[in-house]
Amino acid sequence: MLKAIYPGSFDPVTMGHWDLILRAEKLVDHLVVAVLHNPAKKPCFSVAERAGFLREILADHPKVEVLTFNGLLVDLARQTNAQCIVRGVRAFSDFEYEFQMALMNRKLAPELETVFLMPKEKYSAVSSRLVREIGSMGGNLSDLVPDALRERIAGRLNKT
Ligand code: PNS
Repeated sequence: MLKAIYPGSFDPVTMGHWDLILRAEKLVDHLVVAVLHNPAKKPCFSVAERAGFLREILADHPKVEVLTFNGLLVDLARQTNAQCIVRGVRAFSDFEYEFQMALMNRKLAPELETVFLMPKEKYSAVSSRLVREIGSMGGNLSDLVPDALRERIAGRLNKT
């Protein structure tokens, strides 16, 4: 049974994340979407909100489970018996950061493989940071975040 972890901050979940989850779930038997709870960072959405959004849009995806975590990703991978980490690469600019993380995770847990997937080209420029910026200025979030969440995400960001 192939089990993978797709970790991230998901602050908030974007269409790029969503596209990647759909690609990853086709490749594995079980996918853990792991939402980072890092008290040192000040996210815009609480960890409960971020995980709640994901659980809502993934309610009819039985292969996908949403967890929150703090501490090392490799520890969560070991606890959940995942064999691989999935990460998205949108553009060349993502590569250096992703490469460093993948190599460091390999040093910490040589048995784990990191697998990179590319989201649809139209999501190459979509990031949580830009969604937060656009939303906080009242911009249109359609095709940037999942439809079912758009109004709530926009409403929350507009108040920030
Ligand atoms: O969506 P992000 O913010 O790019 O995701 C980054 C994430 C959560 C994958 C990364 O920060 C992470 O794995 N954090 C957990 C702590 C950890 O394992 N750090 C060592 C990474 S080599």
